[in-house]
Order: sequence, then structure tokens, then C-alpha cells
Amino acid sequence: MPQGIPEEIIDEIRQRTDLVGLIGEYLKLERRGKNMVGLCPFHTEKTPSFTVSPEKQLFHCFGCGASGNVFSLVMQMEKLTFPEAARFLARRSGVTIPEPKTGSPAEDNLKEKIYKLNFLASRFYAYCLCKTDSGKTALEYLQKRGIEQKIIELFMLGYAPADWTGFFNFARKKGISADLLVKAGLVSPGREKGYYDRFRNRVMFPIFNISGKVAGFGGRALEEGEKSGPKYLNSPETPVYEKSSLLYGLNLAREEIRREKKAVIMEGYTDVITAFQAGIKNVVASMGTALTVEQGRLLRFQAETVITAYDSDSAGEAATWRGLAILQSTGCLVQVADLPEGSDPDSYIRENGADSFIDLVNNSRPLMEYRLQQLKKRFDLASDKGRIKYVEELMPFLLSAVNQVEQDFYLRKAAEELGVDEDALRRELKKRRKRGSRFQDAQKNEQPEREEKIMIGSAEKMLLSLMFQSKEIAEIGRNHLRIEYIDDPRIRKVIEALWNSVAVESFVSTEKLLNQFEDPQIINLITEAVSDPALQDLPAQTTKRMVKDCISRLHHIWGKKEQRELDKRRKEREASGSEEDINELLREQQQLIADKDGWPDRSGKGGDFSG
Ligand code: GTP
Ligand code: MN
Repeated sequence: MPQGIPEEIIDEIRQRTDLVGLIGEYLKLERRGKNMVGLCPFHTEKTPSFTVSPEKQLFHCFGCGASGNVFSLVMQMEKLTFPEAARFLARRSGVTIPEPKTGSPAEDNLKEKIYKLNFLASRFYAYCLCKTDSGKTALEYLQKRGIEQKIIELFMLGYAPADWTGFFNFARKKGISADLLVKAGLVSPGREKGYYDRFRNRVMFPIFNISGKVAGFGGRALEEGEKSGPKYLNSPETPVYEKSSLLYGLNLAREEIRREKKAVIMEGYTDVITAFQAGIKNVVASMGTALTVEQGRLLRFQAETVITAYDSDSAGEAATWRGLAILQSTGCLVQVADLPEGSDPDSYIRENGADSFIDLVNNSRPLMEYRLQQLKKRFDLASDKGRIKYVEELMPFLLSAVNQVEQDFYLRKAAEELGVDEDALRRELKKRRKRGSRFQDAQKNEQPEREEKIMIGSAEKMLLSLMFQSKEIAEIGRNHLRIEYIDDPRIRKVIEALWNSVAVESFVSTEKLLNQFEDPQIINLITEAVSDPALQDLPAQTTKRMVKDCISRLHHIWGKKEQRELDKRRKEREASGSEEDINELLREQQQLIADKDGWPDRSGKGGDFSG
């Protein structure tokens, strides 16, 4: 039973919610026979393959495989957990959810408490900014930057006073425990005794999650210099503040982003605030770090196109490129707006006005094109050596194109610029593509059946996606799968890295894994596996059964392949007539038969499965 909500209430919500009406709030549907179709909200497409069956109250996308019912739809569209989605739909359909008698799990409780406390803190800081003498300097600072009162209120900006215990004392008077204050990252225990405020003498920017709850804070120092610490200080990671899965401003921007199907992503709090004030409202900030898969997914649900407007210093950094590649691989079309050196959106809009900034955004160029141009700048294309080096670096870019058309387009462009034959470049590309799988070709002396090959491919990918769902599943894989069963060398690499990681970490850390790889195709594999929408809300029993199924299938195919190999060797040796060799082969054969039967187990502990 999903966390405290009785099954019959879930049923009632289901019965009272019409899937077609619900989806209609997000996208346009057209009737096609018995079903309704529309453009899939979970991947980018031009012709509708997202199909809704009013009769079955299910949706399925024939393009990306996303499928589910009213609950899974809301979970994916609104980024909610199952109980949150149930509450969302309950409100919408007028169903009352009884208060759970035993209370929800401790963890949920803690999260709720921290959200409440964060809200209280944001009220406190806002009060200090606007209503106290100590906040005067901060308020003047914001006014000097041209931030209007109504924007200060909209973004709930505040001021954390300079004394060491202002907020701590306030919160204690409200009866909040020191323990909770520490867990929320708002105060720290002193070295010897007592507690002190984390944020002091700073302009405070509450950071909201997508539904507008205060997840944490960014605080900007009012004074520069070592004594005042870093320019921006953020909340530490808490149960509700995970920097990598938040985008500043998304709660306010999402409606406009959906309307325009376009989001502009910036680096800083002040960039977003200034843009908003100037009437540009489809803007979010990544808060100074490289983009993550989670952020990409947040955006993908809202926008088809994401335009980055980073200042030119950070636009050139490898981490930025990687972030943008990640964003692109989660299914957004990424374009880059070219800001003049030394400006960020905040300063640009102030100096040149909103319209000029909108022009920049409208003139943004596709990520690929922009990267190629940046790359080209690094080489001297007049010399042979420079050209060879350029081609060398060009290839991985071309291979990371989202489709054949894009790849071809840039290949032709590059050929023209280099003054080389298009086909020569294409052959070079083909070689690279092969090189990635040469190992694979050498392994098989015989082409397996076509069907078998397709099966391997899909089972390998499915298995990878499954193992990214949880440490537990990854460990089932580690205990039962031999890496030899995996045919695709890239998937092998990812799986090995994943296994190494879960051996030392308590959860599957996608970011750490991504950081280990440069190969854009591997990055793609990982992001695809993580965001596989088909696996998002399956019960643990089902995913376990699926893992078992995949492993068995791969094991079985591997067995057949080995068998073919042995048969071939036997024939060769029979022809040459060495009896000893043949006996050895027969022993191997028996071993293989023993291996092939039954469920592979490498853990020595027996099966992990109950279902
Ligand atoms: P202003 O200088 O007030 O205009 O802010 P900005 O947004 O232009 O700052 P900057 O371009 O230096 O940084 C962009 C974003 O990176 C900020 O909004 C922060 O989210 C983040 N950032 C910058 N400096 C720091 C820092 O010292 N620590 C942390 N944690 N984040 C920072
Ligand atoms: Mn700035």
C-alpha cells in the first residue's frame, strides 16, 4: 500500500479522474479512431506518437515508450512521488484523503518539517531586509542594482543579519529544536559550545523547488574580502536541498516555459531576477555549476528548446560543455546564445535592454554548431598539422550528433570549411564508429542470427536501465551477470563502472559515474538509462523479475554463442585429427552445458529472488 493512502481511496481517485481531461491540461489531443493522439510530452517529436486510450485509461508513447495511467502521468509531469501525485489528483477530483493514523514515515516527516522551517526562515530574512535598520544596507544594495520592491517580494529576497545568533534565537523562541535547525542547514554547532547562524550579513535568495517550497538558500556576501567568506554561500545538502536537482526560478518560470516551449538557462540568481523584472519570464538558473541529468529532466518536462545564456568565461569550460551535452541527451534541443565577453544576462539587460537580450536569444545557435565554431578557433586550419588535429577532435563531436541528419549537416559543413572531400570525412567517421565495436567483431567468429543480435541489444540496454534504478538491482546484476555476457563494449564499461561504484557507495550516483567518462556516446547511454520513462514507477518485484529475465536471456544467448564456438573448434580439430585436443574440447563442452543450465549465480549465496 503506497505510504499511508488506503487502496480504496487510490481507486476512488482513479475512478474520478479522466485521463483524457487530465492530459488535455498539458497538451493538445486529437481523436484518432478509438484513441486520442498528441505530441509526446516526454520526448521531442514532430509527429504525434503519444496515444491515449480513453477506454483503458492508459497512455503509451510509441516513440519513447513512456506509458502509464493517471498517477504515472502526474508523477512524470509534475515530478512528484506516488503519494504526492495521489494527493495532487485527490485535490483535483475532490477526494479527501484520511489522515494516516500512524503518521507517514519518519523521513517524509523530517522533509515536511524542514520545508516549514525554511519558509519561516525566509519570512524572518524578508522581515530583516525590509523592516529593520540592520537590513538597510542590504536593501540599498538591491535598490542600487535596480531591483524593484515587487520583485523583491516575488522572489522573497531577504537579509541575514550580521550578528551570530539572530536567526537561531528567533527560531528557538518559536520552539524549534537546535537539532532541526542543524538538519535544515540554517545553523551550525559551535566548535566548543552553542550554535551559530550559517548565513550572516548576506542578501538571501530562497531557492524554491518546482512546486514553490523553499528547499534552501543562497546568500550573497554584502562585502568583498576574505573575512566575509565566499561571494555566494549556499545551504549544505539537506533532505530537501539537493543542488543537483534544483533549478532556480523554475517554480515561477514553468508556466511561461510551457507556453513558449522554450527555456533560457542562466548561471546566477541575479540574472534570473533581472530578466524576470524586464518581462522575460521563461528563465531559470543552474546556480553556477554544470548541469546534471536531474536538472535536464526537470527542463525536458517543460521545454522543447533550452537556450543557454552563460557568460563567455564559463561558456568555454569543459564542465559547461559536458553539462550541455547532458542536457541535450535528456531530450531537449540545446541552443547557445552568444553573450559578449564579460557580460552576464543581468549586466547585458541593464546595459542594452530586454529587447536586445531577446534578440540574442532568438539568434542563438544549435549547440553543435556553436561547439564546432569554438573548436575551430583552437586550431590553425591553414597548416596541415592543425587540420589533422582538428579532424581528430571533430570526429567525437560528429558522433555525438542527435541524429543522422544533424550529423550529415555538420559533416558537410566541416568538409566545406576544410576544403576536403565529404566522402573522405565520411569514411573517416565510419572507421571511428567501427573502432568502437572492433572488439565486439573479433569476439564473434560467426554472426549470430539477426534476431539474436537485436535481442542482445535490447536486453543489454534494459538491464542497464534497470541497474540504474537502485543499488539493490545493480547488486543483483553484479552477483549474477558475467561481464562476458555483454556484447556492447560501451555498455560493458558503464556496467563495470556502476558495479565499482555501488561497491563503495550506498546509492547509485549518476553524477559521479558521468564524470568518469568523456565519450559522448557513453554519456548518452547513461542518461538514457537513468531517464528511461518506462521504468519510473514499477514496483520493486516487477523490476527484479525484469532483471532476472534480462540476465537469463543474455546468459542463454552467450551459451549458444560459446556452443557455436566450440563446435567450430571441434570441427577444425577433427579435421586435423588430434585426439587429446578433442577430449579436452569435450570436457569444455560438458562444463558449458553445466554452466548454461540454471540461473547464473556468482555470489555463492544462492538466489536473491523471491519473485
Ligand atoms: P553578482 O555578482 O551579484 O551579479 O552575481 P552573479 O550571479 O553575476 O555571480 P557570478 O556570475 O559570479 O556567479 C554565478 C552564479 O554562480 C551565482 O549566482 C551563484 O549561484 C554561483 N556562485 C558564484 N560564486 C559562488 C561562490 O563563491 N560559491 C558558490 N557556492 N556559488 C557561487
Ligand atoms: Mn552578475
